[in-house]
Amino acid sequence: MRVVEAFRESYGTEPAGVWHAPGRVNLIGEHTDYNDGFVLPFAVPWGVTAAVSPREDGVIRLRSLQADEPVALATPDQAEGWTRYVAGMFWVLRGAGHQVGGADVVIDGDVPQGAGLSSSAALEVVVGIALNELYELGLTKMEIALAAQKAENDFVGMPCGIMDQAASALAEEGKALFMDCRSLSTRNIPFDLASHGLQLLIINTGVRHELADGQYASRRRDCENAARHLGLDALRDIIDLGGALARLSGDERRRTQHVVTENHRVEAVIGLLRAGAVREIGALLNASHLSLRDQFEVSCAELDVAVESAVRGGARGARMTGGGFGGSAIALVTDERVESVREAVTHAYAEHGWAAPEIYPAPPAAGARRLI
Ligand code: GLA
Repeated sequence: MRVVEAFRESYGTEPAGVWHAPGRVNLIGEHTDYNDGFVLPFAVPWGVTAAVSPREDGVIRLRSLQADEPVALATPDQAEGWTRYVAGMFWVLRGAGHQVGGADVVIDGDVPQGAGLSSSAALEVVVGIALNELYELGLTKMEIALAAQKAENDFVGMPCGIMDQAASALAEEGKALFMDCRSLSTRNIPFDLASHGLQLLIINTGVRHELADGQYASRRRDCENAARHLGLDALRDIIDLGGALARLSGDERRRTQHVVTENHRVEAVIGLLRAGAVREIGALLNASHLSLRDQFEVSCAELDVAVESAVRGGARGARMTGGGFGGSAIALVTDERVESVREAVTHAYAEHGWAAPEIYPAPPAAGARRLI
C-alpha cells in the first residue's frame, strides 16, 4: 500500500495503523442540515487514507502524497492550508479534554479535485477515527463526525452543517444514510442501483466559483433570520408552509420555501426507496434542482447545463449536489441511457465552450473504517 511505503520512507517505522474515510454525494436534502432537517447522502468510492502512529511529545508531523512539503506542527494553531483540517481535529479533541498526544501521519487522497465531494470532511473524519483508536477515546462514529464538524466550524471557519462528516463516518456500502439533523438519529436505507438497472452518475463541473463560502454563510443567515421571524427554533418546525410564507418576504421567503419542500422531498424519496420504486425518485431530484436554482439560488450555469442536458439525454432525474456554486451534479440513469447522457452533457458543454466535465458512476460505498 502506497501510504504505508511512504510512511516507512518518511518516519523509518511501520505505522500503528491505516484508516480510510470516504467523500460523499448527497442524493437529496440540500441545505437542510443546518435547518435541523433531513438529508440522504451516501459515501463515494473515493476518499482519504491515512497511515498514523502516535507520538508522545504532542508534535503533529504530516505528509500528504498530494502535497510537496512535509509539515511539522508543534501546536495545531500553526497549521495552514489543507493541514488545518488535520490540526483542527487535534484542537477539538484536546479542547474537549481528551488526552490526545501527537502523531506521525501520511495522507493519500483520491477524491476528484473540484468535485465538491467533501474531501475535507473525509480528511477530518479519517484523522478522527485514527486518534479515537490510537488514544482510546471511546467515541462513537457520530461523536467523531460532530468533532469533525466543530473543527470545520470553529478551527477552519466554515459554518457547515453535519451532513458531510456524518456521511463519511456512518455510511454503509449499497446504502444511503437517512439522517434527522435535529435528533441526529440515522438509518441506512438500501439503495441498490444495480439490481434496478440504474447508475448514479457524477458530473464533475470542475468549477468552484469564488464567493462560494460567503454565499453559504449568507444562505445560512437567511434561514436563521426567517426562523427567528417566525418565532421558531429552525425552519424544520414549520407545519403550515402557506401561513409561514405569508409572513415572510424576499430572500427569507424563498429560502424557507426551498427548505420546507426539500425536507418533504427527502421523505418522499425514502418512501419510494422503501417501496422499491428507485426509478421514480428521478422526478424528485429534478424538483430539488429547480428549488435550489430558483428559491435557494445556489446553482450556477455549469450545474444547470449539466442537469438540463443530462435530462435531455435521457436521465430519470438530475440535480446539483452539495453546497452549490460549482462542484458536481448527479444524474440517475438507466444502464441503456448512460451513453446518451454522457454524449448530451459533453455536447452541451462543448457548445458553451467549456471543458468536458468528467462523468463517472458512483456506487454507494462504505463509511470510515480501519484498513490495517
Ligand atoms: C455543504 C455543507 C453541508 C451542507 C451542504 C448543503 O456540503 O458542508 O453541511 O450544508 O453544503 O446541503
